[in-house]
Amino acid sequence: MTDITNDLNQLLADHQVFYQKCRIYHWTVQGPLFFALHQKFEELYTEAALRVDELAERIVALGGRPIGTLAKQVSTSRLGEDGEARSAKAMVQNLIDDLEKLTLWLRETAADAGEANDSATLNMLEGFADANGKTMWMLRAFLAD
Ligand SMILES: [Fe+2]
Repeated sequence: MTDITNDLNQLLADHQVFYQKCRIYHWTVQGPLFFALHQKFEELYTEAALRVDELAERIVALGGRPIGTLAKQVSTSRLGEDGEARSAKAMVQNLIDDLEKLTLWLRETAADAGEANDSATLNMLEGFADANGKTMWMLRAFLAD
């Protein structure tokens, strides 16, 4: 199980950085798309916070220890932070790019959990990945001309 908890900690760190990116976008988005995106980014960071919690609790349930500091989470995350001013559409595109990566990593770890007969982890991660698929569809539809 050690490998799975390491992978779950990796995913926890990735989602923590994604969470913070959604928050700064929620706070700073501007323009005619403000109301739609302000709301959507809040939905995304709320979902990300729930996932961080579920990932951390699964790590503990498996006998591991969640990464406990923001500094360690940032250094562990495979997603980069974003402190730059962005256009509304650039924000959406960045989140699509991140969600593509998160979905790939979620399915990789889900497959490892499946091989370890850890169906609880498998189902949790596949649920997150499936939800990302719907979110990416909506965000891409939003950007379409
Ligand atoms: Fe807010």
